[in-house]
Amino acid sequence: TTVTVSATASHAIPSTLWGMMFEDISHSGDGGLYAELIQNRAFQQVAPDTAAALDPWVPLGDSQISVVADSVPLSSALPNSLALTVPAASATEIGFANPGYFGIGLVKGTAYSASLNYRVAAGAISKQASLTISLLDQNNKTLAAFTTPLRASGKWTEVTASLVPSHTPPSNNNSFAVTVTNARGAESQVNFALLSLFPPTFKGRANGMRPDIAETLAANKPAFWRFPGGNNLEGQTVATRWQWNNTVGPLKDRPGRVGDWGYVNTDGLGLLEYLHWCEDLDMEPYMAVWDGYTLGGTNITGAALDPYIAQAIDQINFVIGDPATSAPAALRASLGHPEPFTLHYVEIGNEDFFDDETVANRWNTIVTNLSATFPQLTFMATSLSSGPVLTPTPKVYDVHVYSSPTFFATNSFLYDSVERNGTHYFEGEYAAISTNDSNLFGTPAEGRLLFPTVASAVGEAAFMTGFERNADIVFSASYAPLLGSVNDSQWTPNLVGFDASNVYKSTSYYVQNLFANNKGDEYLPSTLPSNSSTATLLWSVTRSTANKEVIIKISNNAATTEEMKFVLPFKDVSSTGSATVLTGPATASNTPDAPDAIVPVTSRIKTGTTFEYTAPAVSFSVLVVSAH
Ligand code: AHR
Repeated sequence: TTVTVSATASHAIPSTLWGMMFEDISHSGDGGLYAELIQNRAFQQVAPDTAAALDPWVPLGDSQISVVADSVPLSSALPNSLALTVPAASATEIGFANPGYFGIGLVKGTAYSASLNYRVAAGAISKQASLTISLLDQNNKTLAAFTTPLRASGKWTEVTASLVPSHTPPSNNNSFAVTVTNARGAESQVNFALLSLFPPTFKGRANGMRPDIAETLAANKPAFWRFPGGNNLEGQTVATRWQWNNTVGPLKDRPGRVGDWGYVNTDGLGLLEYLHWCEDLDMEPYMAVWDGYTLGGTNITGAALDPYIAQAIDQINFVIGDPATSAPAALRASLGHPEPFTLHYVEIGNEDFFDDETVANRWNTIVTNLSATFPQLTFMATSLSSGPVLTPTPKVYDVHVYSSPTFFATNSFLYDSVERNGTHYFEGEYAAISTNDSNLFGTPAEGRLLFPTVASAVGEAAFMTGFERNADIVFSASYAPLLGSVNDSQWTPNLVGFDASNVYKSTSYYVQNLFANNKGDEYLPSTLPSNSSTATLLWSVTRSTANKEVIIKISNNAATTEEMKFVLPFKDVSSTGSATVLTGPATASNTPDAPDAIVPVTSRIKTGTTFEYTAPAVSFSVLVVSAH
């Protein structure tokens, strides 16, 4: 195959092309990127007096614990507490422990910030009583501990402690324990609320992100961060939709919500944390507002949308409003960020293509209002660009594609035939999720992928060459889902897996990494690949004008090598370049058992105005050649 490259760029590669889509699914937030280590730290959204409300807290020894509706709660947002019965003259320590989110990864010499709140009725426990917060290993041996007198003041008392493990335990089967000694007193009760344990966080942000996950994401140089969903924006019901105002301010004022992926969201990872994260990674927020449609199928139209539009306006003002004229913006200023954040794009709902009946009404009502208040913003539609017709006409559609590796390999021309009529496209979710085209969302036995494979990643790479070729209308794209716990996940495959102390980079992660780190700033047309339903070899060519480099991306989906010849239109071409290649057996994946089975390998290759390159079977190659 001979590829002749043009010297004249056809269009710019937008700086926003590669980014990330995030929602709390598969513990991507709570138990994942959000660094809190204690699961069910504040008994949010649970039914008191049930065993389930305690999960995963366990009593130590014979201790009696339960979650109660507290008669004097820590805050109105956190009505529940954990009640510990302290027997009379209990000589031994009694208490309870939490195993974290499927384990707690602890490292010797690292300072973990522990905190809790407790309350004992005035005079209800002896003056000698004490409270200990500790970190225990898998054999309940103490790794670090902090002890303080227990005061029976009748008021909530906060205890904070820095816990430094004496050694690194052999596994993640560690726990956070709270114990009480009361050798001389009568039986009493101690109530506990908002118990927390944080490792050092990414960039040292209070209430921040887990560093290893954060650094893994940062390495992919995301230009944008789409949040908070995805389905997790929508709510199964109107009452359980994501609401920005419940996610800001002190943690004790955040009630949490019943998330859309089967677990309670703490909302500790709230709107301000998302925005700080965007600043830390130099990403634009692509923020969604709720648009009157729930996963359960409820839809709200016309004037009944007014309160939700008001809430969306407040949400946007929290991000960009003027503290002098807007209460949500003043709240942002009071939380330490008087300057507005960057915001250009606001997404209206999620996957409105599931509700063709009312989307036109909802879009019109909401976008007419929001545009009047924020004429500078671009609103992104989430229904299909093929219809229903929306007014005002959307400038941007968010498109989602979950399919098979073969689909992606053979559909990279999807946007080539799309009319250039001013509409732009955000490929907000895409992933090769199954080898079974007729049952994409089935089980692993039916073809669903547990982890991205070499073939699925190479297929996605083919599709992504199409985004570069069509970057005049496709301005952004993000794989989904981004993150998933390998211990409790609601969706596979995920771009990055993790457990309590490891991060697993998938084959698709490396493809995203290679595209984002070899973006270039303009697209050079070249001989077009075959656009057929059996095509296996796809490529795209960009140029970095600053670095005077031509960047060639090649996705070979065939089971055989492919001999290629490149003809460059430049006089000054270096005699060697680099080839970074991701390849391996088509069905191979990076898994917790073999996390580095497939990694990209870089080597030097011979280049020139004309040069040959052999694309390995089932491979994605990035060739970088100095040329001008
Ligand atoms: O990425 C998983 C889910 O797929 C998202 O929540 C939803 O938008 C899509 O259907």
